[in-house]
Formats: sequence, C-alpha cells, structure tokens
Amino acid sequence: MALPQGFLDELRDRVTVSSVVGRRHALVRKGREFVALCPFHSDSKPSLNIVDDKGFYHCFACGAHGDVIKFVMESEALGFMEAVEQLAGLAGMEVPKETPEERQKAERRRTLQEVVDLACRWYERQLRTSAGDAGLRYLRDRGLDEATIARFRLGWAPDDRKALQRALKSEGVEVDALVEAGLAKRYDDGETGDYMRGRVLFPITDRRGNVIAFGGRVLGDGQPKYLNSPDTPLFHKGRVLYGLAQAREKAHKSGTLVVAEGYMDVIALDQAGFAAVAPLGTALTEDQIAELWKIVPEPVVCFDGDNAGQRAAARACDRALPMLTPGHSLRFVALPEGEDPDSLTRRDGPAGFRAMLEAAEPLVERLWAGEVAAGPADTPERRADFWRRVRERVRVIADRTVQQSYADEIEARISLMRRPARERFEGRRGGGRGSFRDGKWTPPPVEPRDSRASRARVDTVLARRQQQLILATVIHHPGLLDELGETLAHLELDDQFLDKLRREILEITEADPDLDAAGLAAHLKALGYSDTVNGLLGADSLSHAAFARPNATHSEARAGLIELVARVGRGRLERQLAEARRAVEAAMDETSWNRLLGLQRALAAITVGASLEDAG
Ligand code: UTP
Ligand code: MN
Repeated sequence: MALPQGFLDELRDRVTVSSVVGRRHALVRKGREFVALCPFHSDSKPSLNIVDDKGFYHCFACGAHGDVIKFVMESEALGFMEAVEQLAGLAGMEVPKETPEERQKAERRRTLQEVVDLACRWYERQLRTSAGDAGLRYLRDRGLDEATIARFRLGWAPDDRKALQRALKSEGVEVDALVEAGLAKRYDDGETGDYMRGRVLFPITDRRGNVIAFGGRVLGDGQPKYLNSPDTPLFHKGRVLYGLAQAREKAHKSGTLVVAEGYMDVIALDQAGFAAVAPLGTALTEDQIAELWKIVPEPVVCFDGDNAGQRAAARACDRALPMLTPGHSLRFVALPEGEDPDSLTRRDGPAGFRAMLEAAEPLVERLWAGEVAAGPADTPERRADFWRRVRERVRVIADRTVQQSYADEIEARISLMRRPARERFEGRRGGGRGSFRDGKWTPPPVEPRDSRASRARVDTVLARRQQQLILATVIHHPGLLDELGETLAHLELDDQFLDKLRREILEITEADPDLDAAGLAAHLKALGYSDTVNGLLGADSLSHAAFARPNATHSEARAGLIELVARVGRGRLERQLAEARRAVEAAMDETSWNRLLGLQRALAAITVGASLEDAG
C-alpha cells in the first residue's frame, strides 16, 4: 500500500537513523557519522555506519543497507506499515489514511512542482530580455556576479497582468494550475492575473533544491518591498529556509551556518563564501531551528543591527531555549546599528565578517543580557527579581542535562553578583569588588564582560590577592615600570577599584618617570587612596611575598612581578591578543594595529622574562 511521498519524506527527516539505532545499540560519533556494532551479523568491531544527513545506514562487513524504515523492519521483523506506524509514533505524526483523494493530491504535488519549475525557468529567461534589463542591472548594481545570479536562479517578472499565463499556456499549463501554485490569483470577478509583476524574483526551494515558491522585490521604493508567494500545497512559509539547498554542502564542510534576515543577505554571504539561510520575513520557527540543527550544531543568528532585527534575535533565543539538547544551540552576532550581513560583507570583506562570526555570543549570554536589559538590578528587590526571572527562563529547557548545565552557569553568575554583599557583611576589609567605599554602596555591574572572565572570577579570593600583590610590588618598586609598564598597561584587573588604582599608578609614573616609591605612595595618598595603599602595603598583606616588600632587590621584585603577571594575566592577554588580531583583520586601521603591537610586546615581556627566570 502506497503512502504519500511527502509523508514518508517528512517521517525520514524527523526520525534520524541514529536515534532509532541508538535505542538499542551503543553509538560512537565519528565526525558527521556514527558507528555501532552491526545487529545484522555477529560483529566484533563496529562496522555499521550511520549517516543521518543522508538518512541511511550501511554495514561494511555484511552489506546491510537501508533507511530508517528498513532498519526497523529488519531489526524488529516488522512489516512496512508496522514499521512506519512505530516511527510515526516516535515522531508524533499521524499516518495518513490512504484515500483516492490522498493519492490524487500527491500526484498534484508533483505536477504543481513541475509548473513552478517551468515558471522559474521562464522568469530566469526574462532577466535576459530588454524588459528584464532593469532587473539585471539592479542585481549587478547590488554586487551580484553572473555565477551567483545563475546559482540562485534569479529572475524577472514582467510588469504585465498576464505575461506568465500566456507564456505557460503555450506549454500546456492551465491558469487553474497557476492559481494553485500561487503564481496567479483569481479576482472576485473571475478574472486572473499574474501574482508577481515588475519584480526581481528570488526562487525559494525546498531542501533538495526544487523550486516551490518565489519572493519578489520591487526595484524602487514601492510597497511591499518584498512579496512572497502565498502558502500552497508545496510551500509552507514557516517550514522553509531560504538558501538551504545552496548552503548545505558548504555548511557541512565549514561547520558554520549563518542565519540571516533577508534574501539579499543570504546571497551576498554565499558570494562571499559563507553558508547562509534566512527565514522568510517571519520569526524563526521551531521547524526551522530543527532543520538548522540537522546541518550544524551551532548555527549563528546574524540579524540586522536595528531594533526589529534584535527583537527577532531575542525571539529566536526564546524559541530555541526549550528545544536545546546537549551540544545543540544557537550563537548570536549583534551587528552594528544600521548594518546587515549584505552591507557588512561589502564594507569589511569576508575576513571582517568571519571575525564577527568568531566573536558570536553563546545563547546563555543572550539570555542573561536579555533579562539585564529588561530592567536595572540596582536594589535588593530588583536583584532578587532579576534572579527569579533568569532562573525561570532556565526552567523551560526540556532536556534535563542542558537545564542542569544552564542552572549551574546561572547560579555561578548570581553568586558572583552576591559576593560583594556577602563580603561586606562579613566585614572583610578590602574584600568584595571594591564597591563599598566611603559609606557608599555601588552595586557590581550586572553583566560580566565575558563569560570566561566571569567563570575566572568565581575563584576570586586568590586572584584578588595576586592582583593586590602586583600593585604592592609596583608601588614599592616603580622602577620596574620602565620594563614592564606596557605589560601592566594591558593588564586589566577584574576588580574595578584595583584596576582604577592600576591606571592611576601608570598615569602618575608616566608623568613623572623618576618618581621613587615614597613619592609614588605620597601621590596616591594625595589622590585619596590612603586606606587602600596602607592596606596593600601593610605587613599583613606582604607576609608571604618577600619580593613585594620595599627591601627586596630590584631583580627579586622583578622576578616576582613577572611571575604574578603571568599567572593573573597571561590567559587574559592572550585572549585580548586574539581579539586584537581579529580587529586588525576587520579594520586594518592605525588604532587597532597599535593595540595589537602593544599587546604583543606586553605578552613578550612576561614570556621572555619568565623563561629567563627559568633559565637562571
Ligand atoms: P529587509 O528589509 O531587511 O530585507 O527584510 P533586505 O534583504 O535587507 O532587503 P534589501 O533588498 O537589502 O533592501 C528582511 C526580509 O524580510 C522579508 C524578506 O524576506 C526580506 O528579505 N520582507 C521584508 C518581506 O517579506 N516583506 C517586506 O516587505 C520586507
Ligand atoms: Mn536587511
């Protein structure tokens, strides 16, 4: 008994072979594939290969081969319909009753498909006529080359009520078929007219590359800017991702898939060498997210840098959250205001865009930032409300492991926010994040600058102590700054107050390079740092750090400082350096170049210094 092809395709798409094999057999991931012990012969080492994106399994030893349906039939000795029913149950799909109408509908699907393809070919040819020349020039002016125009099968719909109808009539296509395919519409008076007129056409395909609908753009400022085909038996807007067929292979190879907002973004990115897709003017749907995850584990959402784009990104985050599974997520790039991927690739070139992709934020960051943006967390009540909100959001994650892992991360961040208050009440002097001063309580910044830094800050007590020692050593031995000033200039400290003190020291010694220890301390005290300086330099703080004391020799102090800076700062300097390299690739301007050189020197100073110490 025959089932509609569309149903079986969808079933195979929804239930991966690996998920079914994995119910009974241990799977080992091998790149994009899985291997398992073959259940069809007695297998000693895993020879069953499972390729989810092609939807089949293959045993290299016994030659067993098939799709997910065959696997269930063979491994459980079931008939075709029984296997289909079992799998449909897994996928939450209902097996259609086969009726004559069903069969007719499946056939119509095929013929509709042919109609749309005929139309597509005709539209492509129109781009090469004198009437279509305006469209062709428009596409070229937007930077598209011939290969791209052909690859995306871009076309031109003449500004004529019946042009398509006339053209396809001669190929035996009746107007009713055009109406059903969404290519023509019927007015109340029974008259019909072409759906797309006077527009550049962007054919929309299914994942296999069959054209199923069109998006059409006006050349000027007319409204609507883009017009999409209506939903048809072939085309369901929320299921389709524009550009998927073109992006698949590239995405597999590169492991990167960009989700942009618009047609032109997808095409410009493709031409610049990136795999990209876009939803069709709507928010990302769950179907679309699931589709993305079949191709890469972490697609990068890269919507326009305007409010609408950022709201759409927030919605994508909301949609994906309940669906997260181990290893599968979204990442987010916030584009500069007023830019979209199309404009950016043209402005900064592929290297610039690649740098933006590499800097994409993980979803947890978006989630946290989204709640931060929802309101300030600057009083106990508001902080508590903020914590409640983020905790609530984490609870919507359906997968237990992922939910746990999010909860851990969120709790770590929350405990970071709480730390200053705790330390304040425990009366630990100089503790916290330096934000309780002169009787004034300044809450810590709610959002850690980056999640790695925030994780590092969980181990704050030790790190703080090391940072205090760095400053103490420098205050007692300002001469070290001749050699290590640049390193210290790039070494941002976690603690805002200590960091301010660090910058103050650098400024003072830069203005007066010959200043000695007593002079520097006096300067700092005059600037209102008496308590801190006394605390830093007190015998207590230095009891375990002889090199930081005033009576240490220059070379002892130098060795100690290099060691400390390497501990506190090397990782951070290396990250800054990587960032700076990307910035240089992106911008290639004087400022970013100088920053890169500075960081290289800073890192070299502690690296060379440390290896000299090792050698000596
Ligand atoms: P944009 O207006 O950002 O499109 O809308 P774009 O691709 O950047 O447009 P141009 O050609 O460069 O000016 C993003 C997407 O939203 C949908 C389309 O899918 C578009 O690509 N959209 C936009 C519509 O469906 N209808 C519209 O009227 C506008
Ligand atoms: Mn845009």
